Amino acid sequence: MKQPSSDRPSVMDRRGFILGGAAAAAAGLTALGPKAVFGRDPLPAVGTWPWPAKGLDPAATAGASTEGLSGCAVVSFGLIVGGLRDALPGSVWSSVPLQMASFGNGGGPYGSDCGALIGPLMLMNLLGAPLTLRQEFYKWYCGFPFPSAEWDGLYAFKGTLQTVSNSPLCHESRAIWDGLYFREVYDGTNYDNTRCAKLPRDCTKKAVDLINSWKADGYAGAWTPDYNAAACYDCHTQLAKDKLPGALHAGKEDCTRCHKVVTSHGKSSPKGPKK
Ligand code: HEC
Ligand code: HEC
Repeated sequence: MKQPSSDRPSVMDRRGFILGGAAAAAAGLTALGPKAVFGRDPLPAVGTWPWPAKGLDPAATAGASTEGLSGCAVVSFGLIVGGLRDALPGSVWSSVPLQMASFGNGGGPYGSDCGALIGPLMLMNLLGAPLTLRQEFYKWYCGFPFPSAEWDGLYAFKGTLQTVSNSPLCHESRAIWDGLYFREVYDGTNYDNTRCAKLPRDCTKKAVDLINSWKADGYAGAWTPDYNAAACYDCHTQLAKDKLPGALHAGKEDCTRCHKVVTSHGKSSPKGPKK
C-alpha cells in the first residue's frame, strides 16, 4: 500500500486515499469483503431482509407516532420500519431511508396505486413475501371501509366518513370518499383532513398481520377473483395461456366495473388469430 512520504502530513489527501484504495484492490485485499474495505455491511439481497422471530404487534406498530413521516407511502413504510428498528436494533433497517417510499405518496405522479399499499408492498418485497400474500393485501384494500375508527384517539376528527373503493387506485379511493364527503358531510368550514392519515395505519396493521402469519406459520396468502369477475378471469386468463384474442395477461380487479359484455359473450368458441 502506498505510504505518505515522511515530509507530508500523515492524513492522506483525497488523491492519496484513492491511490491507496486502488493499490489495496490490486493486492487482493478486496477478498476481505466490502465491510473490511468500506467499513460497513453490504445490504442483504432483496427478498432476504430480516423480520423479528416474535413478529411485530400489528396495532402497536400501526398506532405509533408518525412524527417526521409525511405522506401515505412514507407513513405506512415508516411505521413498519420503525417497529423493525425497535425490535432489531443495529439491523439493516436502521440504514434504510424512510423517504425512499415518498415516490408512492398520493399514488405517485399519476394517482395510481394508493401509497398506503406501496409502502408495505415495498417492505414485503425486501422481505421476500409470496405474491399471493401481496395480492391478498391488495384485495383486502379494495373491500375495506376506510378509514377505521381505531385511530380516532390520535386525531381531532373522530368518526371519519367511511367508503369502499373497490379499487387499489389512489384516484378512486380518494375521489369516492371526497365525492360522498363533500355532498353529504362537509359543513363548509371544518374539513376532515384525517382520512388519508388514518388509512395508512389501517394498511400498516393489516400488512404486519399478514407478514406475521407468513413468517410464523408459512401462510402464503390467498387470492381468488372477485365473485363478479371469477368466470371472466378464469376464461380470459386461459385465453392468454392459449395466445388467443381476449387474452388477459394482467389485471385482477372486478371486470364488470369497467366492461359491460353481451350475454352471449364467451359462449361461442374463440376464433384464432387472423391469418
Ligand atoms: C379499471 C377498468 C378495467 C377493469 C377493472 C378491467 N378492464 Fe379490461 N380493459 C379496460 C380498458 C380501458 C381496456 C381498453 C379499452 C377496451 O378495449 O375496452 C380494456 C381492455 C380489455 C380487453 C381487450 C379488448 C380487446 O381489444 O380485445 C380484454 C379482453 C379485457 N379488458 C378483459 C378484462 C377482464 C377479463 C377483466 C377482469 C379480470 C378486466 N378487463 C378488467 C378497463 C378495465
Ligand atoms: C368462456 C370464456 C369467456 C368468458 C366466461 C368471458 N369471456 Fe370475454 N371474451 C372471450 C373471448 C374468446 C373473447 C375474444 C373474442 C374475439 O375477439 O375473438 C372475449 C372478449 C372480451 C372482451 C373484448 C371484446 C369485447 O367484447 O369488448 C372483453 C372486454 C371481455 N371479453 C370481457 C369479459 C368479461 C368482463 C367477462 C365476465 C363478465 C367475460 N369477458 C367473460 C371469452 C370469455
